[in-house]
Amino acid sequence: MEQSNSFDKIVNLAKQRGFIYPSSEIYGGLSAAYDYGPLGVELKNNIKQAWWKMFVTSRADMVGLDSAIIMNPKIWEASGHVENFSDPLVDCKSCHKRFREDHLLENKGIQPEYDKTKPRDRKGLKCPDCGGELTPARQFNLMLKTFLGPLEDSASVAYLRPETAGGIFVNFKNVLDSMRLRLPFGIAQIGKAFRNEITTENFIFRTREFEQFEIEYFVKPEDWEQHFSEWQKVMKQWCLFLGLAQDDLVEHEIGPKDRAFYSKRTIDFEYKFPFGQKELFGLAYRTDYDLTQHQKFSGQDLSYTDPITKEKFTPHVIEPSLGVDRTVLAVLCAAYTEIEGGRSTTTESNKEKEVVLRLPYALAPIKIAVLPLSKKEHLSELSRSILMELKKKWVVMYDETASIGKRYRRQDEIGTPYCVTIDFESLEDHKVTVRDRDTMQQDRVAIDDLESYFNTKFN
Ligand code: GAP
Repeated sequence: MEQSNSFDKIVNLAKQRGFIYPSSEIYGGLSAAYDYGPLGVELKNNIKQAWWKMFVTSRADMVGLDSAIIMNPKIWEASGHVENFSDPLVDCKSCHKRFREDHLLENKGIQPEYDKTKPRDRKGLKCPDCGGELTPARQFNLMLKTFLGPLEDSASVAYLRPETAGGIFVNFKNVLDSMRLRLPFGIAQIGKAFRNEITTENFIFRTREFEQFEIEYFVKPEDWEQHFSEWQKVMKQWCLFLGLAQDDLVEHEIGPKDRAFYSKRTIDFEYKFPFGQKELFGLAYRTDYDLTQHQKFSGQDLSYTDPITKEKFTPHVIEPSLGVDRTVLAVLCAAYTEIEGGRSTTTESNKEKEVVLRLPYALAPIKIAVLPLSKKEHLSELSRSILMELKKKWVVMYDETASIGKRYRRQDEIGTPYCVTIDFESLEDHKVTVRDRDTMQQDRVAIDDLESYFNTKFN
């Protein structure tokens, strides 16, 4: 299958089957803004819950946080974002389109020079749309500004956070004092971040409003390398849990000139999306940069005293930083499977191409579909009672329209692991047929045993 073509199909499926819609569509949409539909919100929530469990609640060295999106603007002066969080913007002198210079170079296979103090060697770069001449690059700050209160003056400027990390750093002392933690420990947060991206691209890959999973893991300065490599392993495990194939993952060591201004070591976890190999997540060693800056700007003591040695120092930080929306996109791309010629045995679907979304069970938005073979009243009644029983434990969908073959294929397309079919025999033998999404194997299961059957399957 041609790669970009497969991506268009994933985007279409996402819209048609209620995962992700273009935002504000009835008003013509808004560039790079998307809304998660009924299945998308389930998928995203499942991913978030799994992340929280794996990275926070199942560990003894992690706690969570949910900080404000709009915080004191001094935070972003201290962190360096107001001064440094920018991308190189170029305009086409002919068609007036705007681009990120580094992306244009990357698209031509040239590794751009990220040193912002020097102009880049552009190797005769032209506008990719019309071939026109490009302006020299100017740095464009990505922070989304707003004003608090009735006056729109410099005193009321505030920013929507560009990363969730800021809220963690400024709560370091609160968490330390209230939770009596000892190094090493981490604070995790899931939440929205905002960036006024110059270019947005590839569906939900790069948007202006997005969600992050972030951890700031505080360590003794001399221990950073050990913790960095431990987090690298955990992030790899997370990628595999998501169903991403090992061969589609690349751990890319970022060179000193290309790292974010606060980082002394960064590894990008890149994924081979259908539109190219791109950054999925990042792991950075932020040193004591942030806590030191916040101490300077706030005048507060953000040091840590070792309870045994009584040594006082500023902790260093390892930061696993992951995009929630990019995770959703990678999960969809990895799960999307087309089966040429079909695999169903029903005559009408024979030889037709079938789509199966092979989502890991834990992430599937709908776990079970209840499908009565006919709409006849007594079958519906039994089916609805099975639906309500199963709904006590799992997210279950009911579908009684169209042929059973079509209904199976609808469920395959949205990644539902199991379909329960209730037929006329079910009224006699109190058994139903359970069909497996991946193997298409069918088991006849007693209605009274369904709960324990699915407990085994989902555990
Ligand atoms: N605190 C570090 C930090 O924010 P980053 O590499 O700028 O680092 C971390 O962002 C992750 O957030 C990225 O790896 C990506 O998954 C996600 N991300 C960043 N910008 C994004 C955007 N405009 N749209 C969607 N996801 C984005």
